[in-house]
Amino acid sequence: MKFKRLLSTTSLCLSFGFALSAFAADDEITLYSHRHYPTDVELFAKFTEQTGIKVNVVKAKADELIERLKAEGDNTKADILIAADAGRLVRAKSEGLLKAVDSASLAERIPAAYRDPDGQWFGFTMRSRILAYAKDRVKPEELSTYEAMADKQWRARVLVRSSSNIYNQSLMASLIENLGRDQALAWAQSVRGNMARPPQGSDRDQMRAVVAGLGDVAIVNTYYVGLLANSTEEKDRKVADSIGIYFPNQDGRGAHVNVSGAGLVKGSKNVAAATKFLEFLASDEAQSSFPHATYEYPVVEGIEWSPLLKSWGTFKADALNLSKLGELNETAVEVFNEAGWE
Ligand SMILES: [Fe+2]
Repeated sequence: MKFKRLLSTTSLCLSFGFALSAFAADDEITLYSHRHYPTDVELFAKFTEQTGIKVNVVKAKADELIERLKAEGDNTKADILIAADAGRLVRAKSEGLLKAVDSASLAERIPAAYRDPDGQWFGFTMRSRILAYAKDRVKPEELSTYEAMADKQWRARVLVRSSSNIYNQSLMASLIENLGRDQALAWAQSVRGNMARPPQGSDRDQMRAVVAGLGDVAIVNTYYVGLLANSTEEKDRKVADSIGIYFPNQDGRGAHVNVSGAGLVKGSKNVAAATKFLEFLASDEAQSSFPHATYEYPVVEGIEWSPLLKSWGTFKADALNLSKLGELNETAVEVFNEAGWE
């Protein structure tokens, strides 16, 4: 766009330096990102080093970014939307805010379950929503499935955040897909009845509450355990030491997983550079960095995990295509409301 403006201007006697910076606009991409990790910025700097493509980041909550993309339409400066949940990427796609990426390597490297069937978004890091239990009060043999957390033995012992949270909505979507709406509703009602306190706080707060003795089992994302284990706060590191990690549904469909991922914005003017960036996120270099940087699992097979991720053990992941999580998001919200899960 800057280039066109430059051509249309009557005063073409511009300095060479200015002309160069105008050309450089093609070698610049803008990310709308819901991720907030300093290590992401380091990773983006490596991309710039390798390709010369500058990366601008606009950070906000995913819903705000989606609204902004809607308002900006084709005039947007954004090239890539990054979200911390497949549900939001599916929403962006269904709002017509994304377009297909033409890249054989992305389709080849990223498992089908972790990307949009139409190639509009791709998962780059994976996480599981697991049971974090008090090691001194719960034996892992007492745990089995998400479904079993509805049993009476867990009365006043379950800690989980609010249903307005997308991670819970996606877990609920997977339960609706697997059990049907009625059974998923009955589950939500029973788990609501088993809660140690009304839903409040973050995933990390649920684990802190387990260790404080408020409840015995928390439903949380894996990387939050990593964030606690590597916290600068000693009491948070103690929380991580005091809880056990349990991957549910290992004898059945597998543990619920989700991805943090990125899609190509429909109004992007820098498709080639944006595609290079997406391919970089799927590269061995980027994929190997995530387990160490953010305690997330790589999506590309054969990438080595960090010692911490290895210590949690291997697990079977639910093979459900993550697009389903977005498709069932509205129903999931309805079910939570009906169940009285705040
Ligand atoms: Fe998160």
